[in-house]
Parts: sequence; C-alpha cells; structure tokens
Amino acid sequence: MEQPQQSAAPEAGKPPLRVGMVGYAFMGAAHSQGWRTAGRVFDLPRRPVLSAICGRDAAAVRAAADRHGWAAAETDWRALIARDDVDLVDICTPGDSHAEIALAALAAGKHVLCEKPLANTVEEAEAMTAAAEAAYGRGQLAMVGFNYRRVPATALARSMVAEGRLGTLRHVRVTYLQDWLVDPQFPLTWRLRKELAGSGALGDLGAHVVDLAQYLAGEQLAGVSALTETFVRQRPLPVGASSGLSTVESAGTGQVTVDDAAVFTGRFASGALASFEATRFATGRKNALRIELNGELGSLAFDLERLNELAYYDGTEPATRGGFRRILVTEPDHPYVDAWWPPGHGLGYEHTFIHQARDLVHAIAEGRPPRPSFADGLQVQRVLAAVEESAEKNSVYTPIAV
Ligand SMILES: NC(=O)c1ccc[n+]([C@@H]2O[C@H](COP(=O)([O-])OP(=O)(O)OC[C@H]3O[C@@H](n4cnc5c(N)ncnc54)[C@H](O)[C@@H]3O)[C@@H](O)[C@H]2O)c1
Repeated sequence: MEQPQQSAAPEAGKPPLRVGMVGYAFMGAAHSQGWRTAGRVFDLPRRPVLSAICGRDAAAVRAAADRHGWAAAETDWRALIARDDVDLVDICTPGDSHAEIALAALAAGKHVLCEKPLANTVEEAEAMTAAAEAAYGRGQLAMVGFNYRRVPATALARSMVAEGRLGTLRHVRVTYLQDWLVDPQFPLTWRLRKELAGSGALGDLGAHVVDLAQYLAGEQLAGVSALTETFVRQRPLPVGASSGLSTVESAGTGQVTVDDAAVFTGRFASGALASFEATRFATGRKNALRIELNGELGSLAFDLERLNELAYYDGTEPATRGGFRRILVTEPDHPYVDAWWPPGHGLGYEHTFIHQARDLVHAIAEGRPPRPSFADGLQVQRVLAAVEESAEKNSVYTPIAV
C-alpha cells in the first residue's frame, strides 16, 4: 500500500509547551518518546518542547539528554523546576520523590505529569491532590500517568461500557503478571525497598490494574479482601547505580521489604465483583495484563500482549450465531488511531505515552481538568492501602476510605 504523503509537522507554528523531565531511565525514555512524537503525529494546540531533563549523575544525564532529544541537562530537580523555560514538570522517578517534586513544581506555577503510583502513601497523595486542586484555580493542571487508559482498545472498551453494551456489570477479572523476580539472585533494586517504592507488585502492577478496572467499569471499588506475599525475603545488594528492573553485580544481601505478589477480591459500589492478581513471580509471563468484564448483555476482554485487539461477546445475538468476536482496533474511527497507520498496521506500548502527552496538551490548552487526575491517583492509593490493611488482618474485608 502507498504511504500517505509527508507534509510539514502539524506542530509547526503552534505556541510551545516547554517540558522539564525528572528521571531518564525506563519511564524517562518512554515519556521522551511521547513528548518528541505527539506534536508530529497529532494536530495539537501547543507544540511540546523538550527543554530540560534532570538526573543526579552529570555525565549520564547529559548523555540521556543527547540520546532522547532534550536541550539542557540538570543534576538537581529544584534547578529544573526553577527554569524559566519549563512550563510543565514530568516526574519519572521512583515513588519516594513524587510528592516532594510535585508539590514544589505546583508551588512554582508549573503543570505536572506524575508517574504512577501517585505517591508512596495515602498521606502524600492527599497533600498532592489538595495542592493540585488549589493549582487548578490558578490555571495549572496535574495528571497521573496511568498510561494503559491510552491504548486504543481499552479506550474503545470504555466507550462500549459507557454506551451500555454490557448492561449491568457483574464481574471484572484482572491479572497483571510478570516474572522478573523468579531468580532469587536478582538484586535488591529500588522496586524491592519499601522506603523507595512504597510497595511491591501491589503499587507497581496493582496500581495500574486498579485504575484500569475502575476506568473501564466507570465506577469505584467499595472494599477489598486481600492476600500478599514476599516469596524471597533476602536478595543480593546491587553495586552502584541500578535501574529498577536490571540485573547488576552485587555485594552481600539485604532484606526485601515489599510484597512480591498481591491477590485480592473487591466489590464495586454497584455490587459487581472484582478479582485482581498482581505478581512478579508468574514464570513465563512477561507483561501479561489481562482484563475481562462480564455484564448482563455482554462481555469484553483485553490482553496487553495483544494490544491491537479487543474481544467482545454480544449476549443479545441469537445463541446459534453468538461467540466472542475479535475487534481489530486499528480503524481510523477507533480512539487515537486516525493519526496513525492504515487499518491493520498496529500500534505498540510506546504509543500509550504519545497518547498520554497528546491528551495532556489538549487539556492544558483547553483549560479542562485532565484524567486521570491526582484525585484519581489518590483514590487508587486508598485502594492499595486497603489491600495492605486487609492482608495484615487475615484478609478481612476492608472498605475503601472515601
Ligand atoms: N506507566 C508505566 O507503565 C510505568 C512503567 C514503569 C515504571 N513506572 C513508574 O515510573 C516511575 C519510574 O520508574 P522507572 O521504571 O522509570 O525507574 P528507573 O529506575 O528506570 O528510573 C528512575 C530514574 O529516576 C532517577 N532518579 C531517582 N531519584 C532521583 C532524584 N532524586 N532526582 C533526580 N533523578 C532521580 C534515576 O536516576 C533514574 O533515571 C516509578 O514511579 C514507576 O512506578 C511506570
């Protein structure tokens, strides 16, 4: 098939939105891709500009700036926030610094995008939400990075639920499975330390699926009953700097202070039942986020490892012709797809960050609150806290604080 003709990037001539980003490893690379590409693919009201990036190691952050296309590099996030050429601060650091950086950025008059989970504790998330709500009155926006809302198939699923295609919802069934901790020699990186990560599989994977389940269902969990486990309690200490997911040389061992896995059930406000499994010990499963919703009229199922597809069962069809159908979510009328490739050509993981940047730029230009908001992130944090409380109390059913 012929490719569409290239013309000037749609962002040419648009007023700039100047971004400063903290953290330059996994999410730093993904968000850089988002900011770099969004204005070249989508017709945005403002043109993202990659002004400055921040990390603590001067040589490494300079190299990251060059690799990912940032104009300047800083080694102190306070200096990044203070820059006149930064309108928006994008936080891509571990959870222990989210609250401090976000509060300082909002106080300095900047818009904020913060990676998930919003914070490491409910108290931090409450302070961030209060600051974000006050800042909204001053024209500043704050959004949390639950990027799985931005997969065309999940966005389509949300619109089908909102249209009433499933009728009354009965079940939401979610698993988020990875296997990178199966090896007991994997080192004690920041994701395994409570003071840095807040929690383990729960806050990392569980936060994503709690948000996605509530977003797709269009309602919030009312309470949960949970089990958590740490299967490997001592791990080799990493030597020098390490990314949260990579294996490095080690010296001695240290205590794992977060959960390796969390399994919980929940009840939605409407009475629908939910089940969740989040683990880093599902041998052979790399990034298996699967969600299924069953309603009175039909069902929907999504699998992140087949992210261009959505399975739909229409229970109103005659049983003789019924069955799950595979919707290939690559049509121009599907969410986000009109700016991309011809039908059937498919999108991937990185597109969720491009779509995230697109949606945030629109919200800022139009002055409307972006979703997921910090308040949404706080509500997810309350679910995570209830899961931990329930697990500590032999799985007792624990209502979600409002
Ligand atoms: N949305 C997603 O799908 C997704 C995926 C992975 C991680 N995350 C979230 O993104 C965040 C970062 O995770 P990651 O995987 O990118 O981690 P990472 O270890 O790959 O990168 C962390 C970065 O933060 C920097 N950093 C840490 N403390 C800093 C400080 N005080 N000042 C400046 N820089 C600092 C590190 O140098 C590094 O560049 C976490 O909140 C994580 O939960 C989200």
